[in-house]
Amino acid sequence: MPAYRQGKPAAADAFKLSSNENPFDPLPGVIEAVVAETQFNRYPDATALALRTELAARHGVTPDQVHIGSGSVALLAQLILATSAPGTEVVYSWRSFEAYPGLVTVSGAASVQVPNTPDHGHDLPAIAAAVGENTSLVIICSPNNPTGNVVGAEEFAAFMAAVPTDVIVVLDEAYAEFVHAGAAAAQTLAEPAVNGLPRGAAPLSERYPNLVILRTFSKAYGLAALRVGFAIGAEGILDAARSTAIPLSVTAQGSAAALASLAAEKHLLDRVAVIADRRDGIHDALTAQGWALPRSYANFLWLPLGAETAAAAETLSAAGLIVRAFPDGIRISVGEEEATPLLLAAAQTILDSLAPGHPARRER
Ligand SMILES: Cc1ncc(COP(=O)(O)O)c(C=O)c1O
Repeated sequence: MPAYRQGKPAAADAFKLSSNENPFDPLPGVIEAVVAETQFNRYPDATALALRTELAARHGVTPDQVHIGSGSVALLAQLILATSAPGTEVVYSWRSFEAYPGLVTVSGAASVQVPNTPDHGHDLPAIAAAVGENTSLVIICSPNNPTGNVVGAEEFAAFMAAVPTDVIVVLDEAYAEFVHAGAAAAQTLAEPAVNGLPRGAAPLSERYPNLVILRTFSKAYGLAALRVGFAIGAEGILDAARSTAIPLSVTAQGSAAALASLAAEKHLLDRVAVIADRRDGIHDALTAQGWALPRSYANFLWLPLGAETAAAAETLSAAGLIVRAFPDGIRISVGEEEATPLLLAAAQTILDSLAPGHPARRER
């Protein structure tokens, strides 16, 4: 089993666009809240009751229907361990978040990877059809990392109706805040995107008791270093996750930062809009160059370069841009504004090197 590889570290003069991080400084009040947590000699309240209480109030659930982890990837690992073992299967779309296969392998379960649609989204009918009597968990990733596609609300409802109610479904919404942000991309949606935690309405886990929604403070909230994610779902399912967790993993500093970030939500939404507008500007510029790339509703873009991926990653690296190269394409995080002209210049060079008819080229 290959070890998990983190996005490449960037040289001092390069832009790190490989881990979908937020390029901004912490939100107002966050550093003060972290610095105020000085009892390094004491264990934290690792159940993060204060943060759970705040999130529960926001989403109209009880604090026990909220579970905090050291990043949402920790929650994923817990849910997989709680549900899955040798002889069971975890179903998810592929290509998707690169941590899924490894976490499933560690549990002893088998991965059932359902190929993405030709336009890089989830094939929900095929995912539902892949659910069988050995299925222990299904993961839906919207927006999908690394392609940026979203699942529609109606197609998600049809999917949940097709999945047996005793199969747990995880809706991984690490990038949810970016979906409806910015001026352009949301207008292009054929139907509203699924939203596990709609504001002013009950979480979808209230409608579907077998659904767990995962969110993170690592992306839009810019707290990747502090490792805080949360799950919302039925208390019984979350208790099972809690029973597989490594105790005491959530730090007091992480909880304090998350609470302070929630209090600065107005600033958060402004920043998310800046990133979303930057993303849409890059998308439009690449399309004008002649690229065919999926519309992204997250904070990254996907170039489906196929066999040309490695060479293109070299070109981007030489331009001072550290990106995430997969076997079939390149994911580029939307980062600092200064990176955009470098990216567009390198993208033009790469496009010029692609053979006519390459799938990443738009038919003119
Ligand atoms: C789809 C998806 N889910 C979950 C995570 C995990 O984020 P974290 O553990 O930082 O909350 C990531 C991080 O890249 C991701 O892309």
